[in-house]
Amino acid sequence: MSLQSRNSHIDLLLTTADAPDPVIAGLLSDPDATEELSAAAHQVRIARKGSHTKQRGLIEITNRCLNNCLYCGIRAANRTLERYTLSHNEIVAAAKYAYSQGMRTFVLQGGENPAVTDTMVTDVVRELKSTMPDAAVTLSLGERPYDIYRTWREAGADRYLLRHETYNPAHYRSLHPAAMNRENRLRCLEDLTALGYRVGTGFLVGSPGQQLSHIIEDLRFIQLLNPGMIGIGPFIPAANTPFADHKAGDVGLTLRCVAILRLMNPDADIPATTALATLGGPDAQQKALCGGANVVMPKFTPPEARELYHLY
Ligand code: 5AD
Repeated sequence: MSLQSRNSHIDLLLTTADAPDPVIAGLLSDPDATEELSAAAHQVRIARKGSHTKQRGLIEITNRCLNNCLYCGIRAANRTLERYTLSHNEIVAAAKYAYSQGMRTFVLQGGENPAVTDTMVTDVVRELKSTMPDAAVTLSLGERPYDIYRTWREAGADRYLLRHETYNPAHYRSLHPAAMNRENRLRCLEDLTALGYRVGTGFLVGSPGQQLSHIIEDLRFIQLLNPGMIGIGPFIPAANTPFADHKAGDVGLTLRCVAILRLMNPDADIPATTALATLGGPDAQQKALCGGANVVMPKFTPPEARELYHLY
């Protein structure tokens, strides 16, 4: 792409938060566009979100999961992994430590684990909200029925992260077991929004079988959903999963996605994700933070457990 058309395409996104599919496809597939896209996204981030970076304390409460997403290291069928579930007191202690270190948002993330009972989550949320009322609680515990999302919301949970992973129906099927379906995931996002959660979603960049057109579907879906938070990261092949031998997602493409997400969703919170830092190192994380991202999620999972939370 010529420098001139690249600039006019970025300008279009910058001024209208939109562009035709071929324009977005052109930018996504052009490594030379990364720097300018990032610069434009950084400008929007500074104008709309300020220059400070928000911190969210991540607590990985369990690596047990009933599901079998083909890409995920903590999938149920991975029998090689030692499993853990933090107790109520361990979660609260981790959150209090995170609070003492300045965190004012906790993200409780885990697999879909029946041992983490609905009541346990409810009790933890209540305790966190009553002892640290100026902190926000974000849950990231997968697909649940409406009534459970409602109970947790009533207990005080403020936000919920649930990536849609990929919007394209056939691609979704190829990444997930037959027991899961995209419609239920989208239903969850709808329920969470209706219940007044600040919702976060997102997708994997470079997951097996992903086409450029799929990414464009993801970008359009996200803009329509208008979530408060958007988290994306490169696919990283995880040991002992069906995709262990696939190639990893591309760091540059992920950075272009982050930048385009910022241009299309100026007010969203966008983290520089752990997957990006794992694959591309601190340099990639820094580039994301100067290219549209405005959030980091340091881990406050107790060290023994942290060793076992291997999504990839
Ligand atoms: N590579 C990158 N990200 C992954 N996730 C799960 N497995 C992988 C992997 N192999 C992401 C999913 C999930 C989030 C918690 O972690 O997008 O939503």
